[in-house]
Amino acid sequence: MDNTTPLSLLVRETRYEADGVVSVCFVDPTGADLPKWKAGAHLEITLPSGLVRQYSLWSNPDDPQHYRVGVLREDRGRGGSKEIHDTGLVGRTLTVNGPRNRFELVDAPRYIFIAGGIGVTPLVPMLSRVARSDANPEWSFHYGGRSRRSMAFTGVLERLAQSGRGGTVNFVAEDSDGILDLRGILSAADGETAIYCCGPGGLITAVEKLCEELGLPGLHVERFGAAPVDESVASAENTTFEVELSTTGTTVSVGPDESILECVRSIVPGVPASCEEGFCGTCEVRILAGQAEHRDQILTQAEQDANETMFICVSRAKSPRLVLDL
Ligand code: FES
Repeated sequence: MDNTTPLSLLVRETRYEADGVVSVCFVDPTGADLPKWKAGAHLEITLPSGLVRQYSLWSNPDDPQHYRVGVLREDRGRGGSKEIHDTGLVGRTLTVNGPRNRFELVDAPRYIFIAGGIGVTPLVPMLSRVARSDANPEWSFHYGGRSRRSMAFTGVLERLAQSGRGGTVNFVAEDSDGILDLRGILSAADGETAIYCCGPGGLITAVEKLCEELGLPGLHVERFGAAPVDESVASAENTTFEVELSTTGTTVSVGPDESILECVRSIVPGVPASCEEGFCGTCEVRILAGQAEHRDQILTQAEQDANETMFICVSRAKSPRLVLDL
């Protein structure tokens, strides 16, 4: 269950976990327990500059006092990770939304985890649950990174492998070992295997294609970046449509070159958004009337068809008018 009440949390500690990867630990300033969460969840953090960014939790969901997120410094990113790495955050209180979970762990007799780079973060608490499960599922964990020094949480993963009841961790550093043998890894899967993959878009696309080719239905992915552009969507002609904001009744016109988010923000500044590319989920809004044209990378086909929510940074309208819960 996602927590929907914004939290004011104190940054208790920051710590380097690997080259370019820092872990940020949050606590409640009063010492109270934090809302519960499950493996795969993330926090949405408002940074001192006002940037809103999402980071996955890697700590133990059974620890009610601490949230820990892992943040890779991305010098060519949009500034959030650099701010976290370069700002003295310890002792500051930040607004945090969540934990929210769009990457839940399902019960399965077998698991394969595939991590690329900082995509390892949400998979750490997943392995913690699986390795300690009384159901004793089979599992293997495959983690690829640029170099061993850049790979975070390897010690935690090794300890989980040793403390669990069977299962292997496989670290593949590109500079010494090459890249993950995805076909070899997935050839061990069957129709009941839950496959969890998190990392860069290229890794996820490769795993998606192989799972399709091998007829493996149990793939769950979380992207840390936008997927390759779907040309049929990219070349589709955008039309003008209207959006009504239900709380004020105000109507705004969204032109072919504008996003709903941009237009709504001209009336209601501060509507939350993070990636602005349709993969993080921050800008989700309930649809009260009208038909959305979904262009995000989050909703399943069934969720798109249900037309209950949409991501207003990228999605548009099929109907001439949308009424949104804003
Ligand atoms: S801001 Fe990330 S999905 Fe819209």
